[in-house]
Amino acid sequence: MKVTIIGLGYVGITTAAGLSEIGHDVVGYDIDSSKVKTLKKGTSPIFEPGLDELLKNNIQRKRLDFTTSAEEAIHHGDIIFICTGTPSREDGSADLTQVEGAAKTVAKYINGYKLIVEKSTVPVKTAQWIERTMKLYLKKKVDFEVASNPEFLKEGDAIRDFLKPDRIVIGVGSKRAERLLRELYKPIKAPIVVTDINTAEIIKHASNAFLAMKISFINMISDLCEATGADVELVAKAMGMDKRIGKQFLRAGIGYGGSCFPKDVKALYYVGKQYGLNFELLKNVHEINESRIDVLMEHLKNALWNLKDKNIVIWGLSFKPNTDDIREAPSLKVVKRILDEGGKLTLYDPVAMDNMKKVYPENHPYIVYARDMYDAVKDKEALVILTEWDVFKQADLQKVKELMLTPIIVDGRNIYKPRKVRRMGFEYYPMGRP
Ligand code: UDX
Repeated sequence: MKVTIIGLGYVGITTAAGLSEIGHDVVGYDIDSSKVKTLKKGTSPIFEPGLDELLKNNIQRKRLDFTTSAEEAIHHGDIIFICTGTPSREDGSADLTQVEGAAKTVAKYINGYKLIVEKSTVPVKTAQWIERTMKLYLKKKVDFEVASNPEFLKEGDAIRDFLKPDRIVIGVGSKRAERLLRELYKPIKAPIVVTDINTAEIIKHASNAFLAMKISFINMISDLCEATGADVELVAKAMGMDKRIGKQFLRAGIGYGGSCFPKDVKALYYVGKQYGLNFELLKNVHEINESRIDVLMEHLKNALWNLKDKNIVIWGLSFKPNTDDIREAPSLKVVKRILDEGGKLTLYDPVAMDNMKKVYPENHPYIVYARDMYDAVKDKEALVILTEWDVFKQADLQKVKELMLTPIIVDGRNIYKPRKVRRMGFEYYPMGRP
């Protein structure tokens, strides 16, 4: 089928690559010409394992192309996906101006029946706004429909999540729209849940907010473990053995970041408030997550006393492993807090340093970017771990101990065994563990 993707961010690029991989004829559109130029060469502007290969293969098979021409893009697809960003506004609500812009673009160039599908994570009833906007801006009477097909892609696993999803959710208003989306996803072996459009929009927000709640729940319990000398890793392990709870997304630590959970929890809280509902639970989810930084800073001060002029190294800048994305990453908050206390920082991450340099330039007076993870710890007074990259889990700790000025580890992701590192002579400060 002929498909158009509007908006070439994490979701748009992955969706374009995934749909062409399963055999569709896809054109990706974005206003950012440098991004389109990079993509046309089969190079992804985002770090996502396996994505470049998928892009190159399908561009060669002439099933995938990219353009900055809105007219070409809208004329191409029978199905048009809106994958534009929906960032948080000051009050926590979702900023839908990019979605509105996409709807206007479709209305301007639409030349026959099209199914417009919102894939971006949007508040319930957004599809109705898209339909209203299109009707307002249509140049001539053209038949079209709007549907919802939320994505459940995790950064670092996006390709797998697209090609092997737990389920596909399609929110439709007609049999015709259902038929089109069933045909589109036919090559993917996964259960398809067909709902009305509002329900599909809520499924996405509710799924993300629930996962974030799971993380804040175990972090709340982590604080109790810390206060009582109990071990949150063992609590989580035993809880997770109950299939109704499940062990995933039950890891205590420095909390969740990324471009989805923080934004979706706030957006859903805002939607609840709009309808006058008691969504305070989500406010607590957010507050518990924010307080993770205070817990880690407490550990760091217990370890170093004063932070002023102390040489501290941070391993891990990305919001999670296998991505270079630092959006809403805990590292952004920890770096600021340590600088505010007069600390001097060396930063290291396997892939995310370039992104961090856009926030804290290389010539920053109190920040050094390390060449490698061992060079990073040389002569430092504390090692703070914020992302559980495998390379950190497998680090040669004997070598780290010899290189550091004082062997202190403040572990924001509980990646080491407390007894083991303490036996090696480290002072070790995990989250929610004795
Ligand atoms: C998430 C959802 O998983 C995905 O379905 C949705 O489409 C987009 O948002 P993503 O944000 O890419 O995906 O990453 P995810 O793996 O969900 O991790 C989100 C954050 O939670 C990360 O900062 C991670 O470190 C943190 N996390 C995850 C925990 O702190 N503890 C856990 O147990 C799991």
